[in-house]
Amino acid sequence: STIVYIDPHGTKHTVDASDGDSLMEVAVRQGVPGVVGQCGGSLACASCHVYVQAPWTEVVGPASDMEDDMLDGAMAPRLPESRLSCQIRASADLDGLIVEVAPEQL
Ligand code: FES
Repeated sequence: STIVYIDPHGTKHTVDASDGDSLMEVAVRQGVPGVVGQCGGSLACASCHVYVQAPWTEVVGPASDMEDDMLDGAMAPRLPESRLSCQIRASADLDGLIVEVAPEQL
């Protein structure tokens, strides 16, 4: 499926993702600026913060309780559409998903 990242400079990166890969892994592998993923996706760093863009916010769904706690410690402002990208997995349902990378991660 295709994922569109808007980096902190406003540049769009349209990349191919395999189903099941996390959006953090995909961004790091494809060199999308701004996604750090320091903890490797174990929900321990909040350095993979993204804002899920409308109309995808509801399709992607809300954060789990643990993710919610981590988002409280994120560097960039937390918004209703905030998610940790290591907790979102590419799938056919999310083909075309657009996320904006948070301006600060660490
Ligand atoms: Fe650390 Fe997502 S990579 S919480």
